[in-house]
Amino acid sequence: MVIAPDCLLLQRMNNPKRYLITSALPYANGLKHIGHLAGAYLPADIYVRYLKAQKRDVVFVCGSDEHGTAIPIQATKEGTTARAIIDKYHPVMAQNFKDLGIAFDIYHRTSDPIHHSTAQEFFTRLNDNGDLEIKETEQYFDEEANSFLADRYIRGTCPNCGYTNAYGDQCENCGKSLSPDELINPVSTLSGKAPVKRTTKHWYLPLNRHEDFLRNWILKEHASDWRSTVVGQCKSWIDGGLQARAVTRDLDWGISLPDSVEGGKGKVLYVWFDAPIGYISATKQWALDNGKDWRPYWEDKETQLVHFIGKDNIVFHCIIFPVMLKLHGNILPDNVPANEFLNLEGDKMSTSRNWKLEMQDYIDDFINKENGGSQMADVLRYYLTLIAPETKDSEFTWKGFQEANNSELVSIFGNFVNRALVLMHKLCKGKVPPLHADLLTDLDKTTIAEFQATKEKVESLLEQYKFRDALFEVINLARTGNQYMQKKEPWIVAKQTTENGQLTVDAQQSIDNTLHICLQLCANLAVLINPFLPFTARKICYLLKVVDKMLDWENAGKIKLLSVGYSLRAPELLFRKIEDSEISYQLEKLQASIVDREASDVNKEKIMEEEKKSETSNLKPEIVFDDFAKIDLRVGTIVSAEKVEKADKLLKLSVDLGFETRTIVSGIALHFTPEEIIGKQVTVVVNLAPRKMRGIESNGMILMAEDNAGKLYFIKPEEAIDRGSTVS
Ligand code: 2FM
Ligand code: ZN
Repeated sequence: MVIAPDCLLLQRMNNPKRYLITSALPYANGLKHIGHLAGAYLPADIYVRYLKAQKRDVVFVCGSDEHGTAIPIQATKEGTTARAIIDKYHPVMAQNFKDLGIAFDIYHRTSDPIHHSTAQEFFTRLNDNGDLEIKETEQYFDEEANSFLADRYIRGTCPNCGYTNAYGDQCENCGKSLSPDELINPVSTLSGKAPVKRTTKHWYLPLNRHEDFLRNWILKEHASDWRSTVVGQCKSWIDGGLQARAVTRDLDWGISLPDSVEGGKGKVLYVWFDAPIGYISATKQWALDNGKDWRPYWEDKETQLVHFIGKDNIVFHCIIFPVMLKLHGNILPDNVPANEFLNLEGDKMSTSRNWKLEMQDYIDDFINKENGGSQMADVLRYYLTLIAPETKDSEFTWKGFQEANNSELVSIFGNFVNRALVLMHKLCKGKVPPLHADLLTDLDKTTIAEFQATKEKVESLLEQYKFRDALFEVINLARTGNQYMQKKEPWIVAKQTTENGQLTVDAQQSIDNTLHICLQLCANLAVLINPFLPFTARKICYLLKVVDKMLDWENAGKIKLLSVGYSLRAPELLFRKIEDSEISYQLEKLQASIVDREASDVNKEKIMEEEKKSETSNLKPEIVFDDFAKIDLRVGTIVSAEKVEKADKLLKLSVDLGFETRTIVSGIALHFTPEEIIGKQVTVVVNLAPRKMRGIESNGMILMAEDNAGKLYFIKPEEAIDRGSTVS
């Protein structure tokens, strides 16, 4: 890759005093998947590790987004309180990030009092300065639930694509942003009834007043240094006409308006007003914990503020939050390197359809298991950076993951480091051999020159947020190392012996030079790979018996990182091969998670639960008696039960119906052990068409009841009766 000299010059002039790096605060309403990781967390972590290796003053903040309707909706689903939901997910999310090497300086939470007071102060300042507008408008109200309906509590038909289950703020089917008024046939998800309009008062951020500022700041000043996808999305927002955006809501979960605000009782800040302020409150908490002053990070123009996000958050970080920051007197982001989306095995990642790979699942299967360890965190980091959706949506495939590991990490990077150490032990008595400068060949010299050249390329690319290209350059240096070793062939040179079997002096000196350069290259690779694969970098330090300080960025490009005569550890493999069986297991698991949902009535219910708030809602349409009469229900006895391999939720049952014994696959494995249900009487739909699940033909369905807490019960006669008895 050729870097224009003036471009390098420009970057070097830009030498901020300090950095404040943020990753989008994830909602604490469920576990996050690798699409989130690739979008907002991994690239930020790489950038921060690079800056820290340069000994820059940098603070990396993140935390859980604990307000908004996502939380109470999840609480309803799980039959618990909003508080219980955030307390459940916050620590798990924090641990997931840690396990994958995402090293925030603070992982805060927006339920913390310091955040509430920071957000209230922010609102108060804008309100006192006349920067907000108050408007009375008509909004949807659920008369039965006696509640105004926030966007996520209204569903209806999307005016854009006709999808009948679109949310009041967005259609999940076509992705279009909506307002509740645009929905056709709106329905309250609280009661299942059509809502009515009522007047309510809210505070608005008049974005329209800031059009000139935004046009100038984004479309002129940052037209060339921000990603074109980001500038493009902002342009279409601005060109589409900026509207005043409500920053308050009628909800009972969120940050209350300050008491001093007249008419603010019972209202909360809109989650998208409070969440980004979470970056500031997290910085405050970090400063308190570390005896620092938080203010310069948000008030001094010599701070470089960078927001790492996914593309669905662009408008909030590039338009709304910057307007808030400007009005409040804070610095503006220097860049918002938003990523596009990561698809999975040919389809969009989706929590509701269960088509996803959660970080937790990867951690369970590859890191916490006996064959993994932290190195496997680096394998995921590697593959996600390799396919980073920086300019367009990209795709995670398990085959691609295996290929990246086996053909690149194992065969190129790990292989080079391993061979260098093996040969050094074999041909140089386990010590770093000397470098005979006067004997350097052209190949030696060009290889050494590559250290510095790679360092410069990686630096330039990282400073332009081009993470995948930067990683490519590091792997390319390892590739160069392998080629160099292959050309120098020290194992062949080692055969040049004198008549009495001694290695010739020339041969030993050639071997010394080759392995000296290879070992220094290993040390360089550790420094350069450190931002991307921090566990691997530390493992190389361990093998080379050097302290982690060697990973300081200034050491990259140098030929003198290891001292001559220094003895090194015996080689250990950096990466292990990933077997085909591990990949097929993951592919089957992914398919099964979808099948499981389709297979079990219980799980089907769960998909629909987003629409359900009370037991009265979500009733199925009326049927006539003849419809019901078509269902043949019989009493049977479970005579055997066993788990279905590689399907966490399924049990394979044999049910004796008197007239025959049927195999039925049921999605109840998370609720019952096989042992506890053998001998139980159950009600079975016996005339349901057979369905294959995980290769097993299921001939019928067991009826279950589910209470509000999600516990399952068999529907069965009060006392044991003849098998095959009909139910009507
Ligand atoms: O989209 C989301 O997951 C939001 N919780 C992101 C918030 S980012 C910031 F504003 F805090
Ligand atoms: Zn739509």
